[in-house]
Amino acid sequence: MRQGRLTQNQKDALSNAHENKFAHYQEIVSTRKNRQAILEVGFGDGRALLQQAITNPEIDFIGVEVYPPGVGQLLCQCQLHNVKNLFVFHGDVESLLAQTILPTWSRVQIYFPDPWHKKRHKKRRLISESFIKQLETILSCGSQLHIITDWDDYAEHIELVMAGAKRFLKVENPNLERAQTKYELRALKLGHTIHEFLYVLG
Ligand SMILES: C[S@@+](CC[C@H](N)C(=O)[O-])C[C@H]1O[C@@H](n2cnc3c(N)ncnc32)[C@H](O)[C@@H]1O
Repeated sequence: MRQGRLTQNQKDALSNAHENKFAHYQEIVSTRKNRQAILEVGFGDGRALLQQAITNPEIDFIGVEVYPPGVGQLLCQCQLHNVKNLFVFHGDVESLLAQTILPTWSRVQIYFPDPWHKKRHKKRRLISESFIKQLETILSCGSQLHIITDWDDYAEHIELVMAGAKRFLKVENPNLERAQTKYELRALKLGHTIHEFLYVLG
């Protein structure tokens, strides 16, 4: 797993910034019951997620990311902008989903998951039959699953996996308002096609 070099601000934010950590969300969960909660898996540098949280103060956003500089960066930005509705879990999405206190998710968003091109690495892809089955158990009717990739081969893989997940109903031509992510801007510069998938759990 990539560790990356942390700036002093990112290190400080990882050690402090308690009010923007998922542990804090769990402490105050009883006060958030009537709010929607959106999960973003693998937010990278978190700038798009931060923007989404600032634009939608009535919704709680929980971001999970394994890459320490990304986590530190987003925590720093949350503090800087005094954001009260974004909570960050540093670790693997599996560890987050194993937590006993979780909100009822209205949406899970996965933007530009690692493509794992090599044939022998494809089983590491986040979108897999078992992961989607797990999401089915934690989501409720009407919850959305929003996935975006710029790799044609991964897009085919997503179609294949989701075709087997009969409870997820595909929404044609999704048009969710969102900010562009760092990987998306890079993909566009490279001339890649952006493939967007939206499903609703029936
Ligand atoms: C290709 S990057 C995309 C980042 C961001 N979504 C964007 O579009 O700019 C994929 C990100 O997912 C994170 N990631 C991969 N597997 C993960 C997992 N199991 N749990 C949490 N984050 C994960 C990686 O650390 C990486 O930052």
